[in-house]
Amino acid sequence: METRLLFRLGEIENLPVADNTVDIVISNCVINLSTDKKRVFTEAFRVLKPGGRLMVSDIVLLQELPQFIKNSVAGYVGCISGAILKQKYLQAVKQAGFQEVKVVDETSFPVELMLNDSEAQALIKKTKITPEKLKEIGTRVVSIKVKGKKP
Ligand SMILES: C[S@@+](CC[C@H](N)C(=O)[O-])C[C@H]1O[C@@H](n2cnc3c(N)ncnc32)[C@H](O)[C@@H]1O
Repeated sequence: METRLLFRLGEIENLPVADNTVDIVISNCVINLSTDKKRVFTEAFRVLKPGGRLMVSDIVLLQELPQFIKNSVAGYVGCISGAILKQKYLQAVKQAGFQEVKVVDETSFPVELMLNDSEAQALIKKTKITPEKLKEIGTRVVSIKVKGKKP
């Protein structure tokens, strides 16, 4: 039997997919970049068949970030500045209509990597933030894997 993969270029806020047609929606480290996360989950819900599954991995916050990081282009590109509070993220998934919403994995942000990253180094230099403070801010950021089901 031949297996064919079909790729469609689109935006996560406007999926180029018909209603109730897909079995599973997966995503890795993309939704944090969207400025309309509620819309993203509503779109995922729309395209899934009843009984369809959502499984996404993303960066979320345990505590709000300081404004200078929120405003940082490097922080946004690095998937941090666009991240929202974990509670709000899960609320958006549930509000879209998903049931059995569960965080199946949660890992802390690799602060060591962040501190060695050239963009983090540039940020340290530009804002004069201490590596210790940056490390503390890093503890506010986690990576989660979330699953949900369309009833
Ligand atoms: C951090 S990368 C992750 C890529 C891939 N999922 C992976 O795990 O390697 C983020 C990707 O999201 C894409 N992206 C950002 N905003 C998007 C949007 N609104 N709609 C669709 N894709 C988007 C970017 O172009 C980029 O390819």
